[in-house]
Amino acid sequence: MGNITPMCFFLLLIALLSGSTKGAEKQVHSAEGDKVTLEPTVPDQFKPLTSILWKHNRNMVVEWIKKLNSTDYYGAFADHTNLDIKTGRLEINTLARNYSGVYSVEFNGQLQSELYKVDVIKKVPKPTVVLKPLTCPNEDICTLSCDGDTTGAEPVTYSWRTDQMDVFEKSEKSKNVSKDDSHVKHFFCQIKNPVSHEDSDPMENPFHPGPPIGLIVGLVLAAIAVVGAAGVVYWKH
Ligand SMILES: *[C@@H]1O[C@H](CO)[C@@H](O)[C@H](O)[C@H]1NC(C)=O
Ligand SMILES: *[C@@H]1O[C@H](CO)[C@@H](O)[C@H](O)[C@H]1NC(C)=O
Ligand SMILES: *[C@@H]1O[C@H](CO)[C@@H](O)[C@H](O)[C@H]1NC(C)=O
Repeated sequence: MGNITPMCFFLLLIALLSGSTKGAEKQVHSAEGDKVTLEPTVPDQFKPLTSILWKHNRNMVVEWIKKLNSTDYYGAFADHTNLDIKTGRLEINTLARNYSGVYSVEFNGQLQSELYKVDVIKKVPKPTVVLKPLTCPNEDICTLSCDGDTTGAEPVTYSWRTDQMDVFEKSEKSKNVSKDDSHVKHFFCQIKNPVSHEDSDPMENPFHPGPPIGLIVGLVLAAIAVVGAAGVVYWKH
């Protein structure tokens, strides 16, 4: 008996936990200026629908009442919100940051357990790779930083790739490079969030040996020779 009680308690706990996941908040990220679409599932016992009420935190968004044949959009949601009365789907256009929050829906007067946590965030900026310190590459290790103003764009992640890689690899905002990376010509970084991603321009690897001096001098001399020859031809005319 002494063993059964904790076991029952444990099973009850599991039941409670799985119950609370079912009614959990669904995280939705949307970009500023874009639209968000919330698509609830209508449980069979609420079909056919006789009323729908969407709320944003505690404020009314839209209410449809079949009996009255009326759809009313409230306050901040008038003019850029659309309710599909067949499916309960809610669409809000041209989002601003303050449309973030928890959205809930009632079907036939019954609050549905699934909530929508909407976060309206900025798209990420195009990053710039900044080389530190200024004394590079006369250092053992140089640091490349994937810079960009990500205020309001969180959560963001940083990825890096070299010219020898096809895809970005998720890592940190900064990347250390050394002589061991001298085979790499260019580094690229990427900032990503749930609504967007942007790549940097190629950043030259400070440890990559440039073309041999002899080759550069040769090319310059050849160029001068060509220009010179053209000049001679010009004067002949
Ligand atoms: C319901 O309202 C729409 C427009 O708001 C109207 O076209 C339609 O005839 C109405 N239906 C009934 C049954 O009153
Ligand atoms: C968001 O802010 C704008 C501008 O201040 C306002 O017109 C709108 O009603 C607000 N929306 C919400 C959902 O509070
Ligand atoms: C990069 O190098 C700096 C200086 O040597 C060191 O403090 C830092 O921990 C390194 N970062 C990584 C990600 O290896």
